[in-house]
Amino acid sequence: MKVLLVNGSPRPKGDTFRALSVVEQSLLERGVETEWFQIGPDPVRPCIDCRRCQSDSRCVFRDDKCYELTEAILRCDGVVVGTPTYFAGPNGSLCALLDRVFYSASDNGRLMDGKPAAGVAVCWRSGTTAALDRLNKYFTFSGMPVVGSVYWNNVLRGEEGFESDSFGIETLKELGCRMAELVKKLAR
Ligand SMILES: Cc1cc2nc3c(=O)[nH]c(=O)nc-3n(C[C@H](O)[C@H](O)[C@H](O)COP(=O)(O)O)c2cc1C
Repeated sequence: MKVLLVNGSPRPKGDTFRALSVVEQSLLERGVETEWFQIGPDPVRPCIDCRRCQSDSRCVFRDDKCYELTEAILRCDGVVVGTPTYFAGPNGSLCALLDRVFYSASDNGRLMDGKPAAGVAVCWRSGTTAALDRLNKYFTFSGMPVVGSVYWNNVLRGEEGFESDSFGIETLKELGCRMAELVKKLAR
């Protein structure tokens, strides 16, 4: 079993990466493999509603990471999407990418149906619940069970780094635990 960890931040080793690494540790401790997907700093095209995905469930544009992300989600048993909070939402390049991945995958064949998913949001001070709400929209649109924890899946980095948010870290550990349990149950 394998869970995909998507770092939606343009900063490959920033706070979102470190938050997802906490989830990863929990997954690995429970015998679930992980795969990383880094969006990185390069430009991402927006969806242009051309509807070409209606024929093959894939975005027509292949010159950025959209196709690669769709294939990575499909080969994994679960997915955790991490985002920094930008103006109380996920960052723009992540939204542009997820609009295309989930719209195309759901248009003809509902490719993501039944695959467990969770969002994780990191912020300086506030706005994570709105960011998580947007991430959850992609999952519920696509028939994916959303994995929870003991609180909303967020971490506040404040001035001292998110390591000082001990409750946030516990929430992410618990998310990894619950994601591991669910992918194992579904594999039986
Ligand atoms: C354009 C922009 C908008 C941001 N908006 C918010 C915000 O609404 N709330 C907040 O608490 N932090 C905000 N931040 C701070 C980031 O969420 C924070 O630095 C986060 O830890 C960055 O994660 P990363 O290192 O994975 O990119 C913003 C940062 C940027 C660059």
